[in-house]
Amino acid sequence: MKVAVLGYGTVGSGVVEVLLTNQASIAKKADMPIEVKYILDIRDFKDSPLKDKFVKDMNIILNDEEIKIVAEAMGGVEPAYSFVKEALLKGKSVVTSNKELVAAHGPELLEVAKQNDCNFLFEASVGGGIPIIRPLNSALTADEIYEITGILNGTTNFILTKMKTEGRAFEDVLQEAQALGYAERNPEADVEGHDACRKIAILASLALGEHVDYKDVYTQGITKIQKEDMDYAAQLGYSIKLLGSCKNTPDGIYASVQPTMILNNHPLATVDDVFNAVLVKGNMVGDVMFYGRGAGKLPTASAMVADIIDAAKHQSTNIMCFWSREKVALEAYEGCKVHYFVRLKGNALTHEQVVQEAFGKVECIAPLKADEYAFITECAPIQELEEKLSQLKDVEVISKIYIEK
Ligand code: NAP
Ligand code: HSE
Repeated sequence: MKVAVLGYGTVGSGVVEVLLTNQASIAKKADMPIEVKYILDIRDFKDSPLKDKFVKDMNIILNDEEIKIVAEAMGGVEPAYSFVKEALLKGKSVVTSNKELVAAHGPELLEVAKQNDCNFLFEASVGGGIPIIRPLNSALTADEIYEITGILNGTTNFILTKMKTEGRAFEDVLQEAQALGYAERNPEADVEGHDACRKIAILASLALGEHVDYKDVYTQGITKIQKEDMDYAAQLGYSIKLLGSCKNTPDGIYASVQPTMILNNHPLATVDDVFNAVLVKGNMVGDVMFYGRGAGKLPTASAMVADIIDAAKHQSTNIMCFWSREKVALEAYEGCKVHYFVRLKGNALTHEQVVQEAFGKVECIAPLKADEYAFITECAPIQELEEKLSQLKDVEVISKIYIEK
């Protein structure tokens, strides 16, 4: 089986490394040897022992009938989308780690794969090395899944963990995450929550069998989280995590990505560093949790190579995937009922009465700084809480974070 790898960066080079390192066991599991014939990259790798495999023209790969599987690890929507679609149209299976591509064009590319008796597989696009796409597509199909909540971005979990445990500055930890190969090319995608947003949209689409458009998912990143917020959370017995979530409730389907304060005994609270975890709730199976390294060269490449093996074992057979183009109508997230943890500049003397007038009953929190007033609201729609906050004239809101009670 001859394979082409598109992009020789963190993940693409990992795919080649996994295929070479585990060559013998992979050949047994696939029932055939798997060999990288081409590597497509813009850069030159003149000193690489693999230098003869490098090409710059995608047509060489597309026109080579020996190539049956293409592993895309370039990132971004274009030209990845065009390359992947052309490969599928030629009956070549494609595996990818590119969640931007999968979230934007997943259902279409799955259809093209089906029409051309090949496969479009994307296990590595969510949760790095964690098997989560395959379980949603097979082991959990007996269930109606009513909630998926996860820590879906390794970079931000790494940052939040280091800020909390080592008191390090945001920028400093982000640079380390970049050096370790965890972050996206433009790390704004990580820290502003866009990457987690695409991932929850992919998982929700697979759980519901219909298309959850990532653009409809209410998304907030971690850039406003301060070390002091973490100290308040610790004092209350909570941790702050960037959660991606989709809940099918009697009021409708809500999807979001947001920093959330969760109790320390919540199953996701102890998921630290680059680790990700996904909690799936089904109406028959109950709670199921998936845990592992959410980013990084070899964990991600491991998931891609597992897809390559699956594609090799299913030549000319399309593996069923439940993700139609029909769009899911998500509820406006502003209507979702939550508690807010709020920090205001000032003190109890100046703020207690105005806060009570605006919010009614609140839970006051012992301030960690002399000039702060902190409280937790009752559960109310986000829209209503925002209106109440805006009633606090001339009061500086230092932070407001969702808190699960
Ligand atoms: P990366 O290190 O930037 O690697 C991408 C490689 O593709 C680079 O060598 C790049 O070359 C090359 N490339 C870009 N455009 C190309 C084109 N048009 N033709 C040929 N080569 C091209 O990125 P990465 O971290 O490996 O990520 C790759 C994909 O996997 C992304 O979609 C990412 O979101 C996803 N992913 C990454 C991780 C992770 O931990 N890193 C985990 C899961 C998923 P230049 O550098 O010269 O542009
Ligand atoms: N930048 C991503 C993350 C890579 O940090 O989770 C894995 O998808």
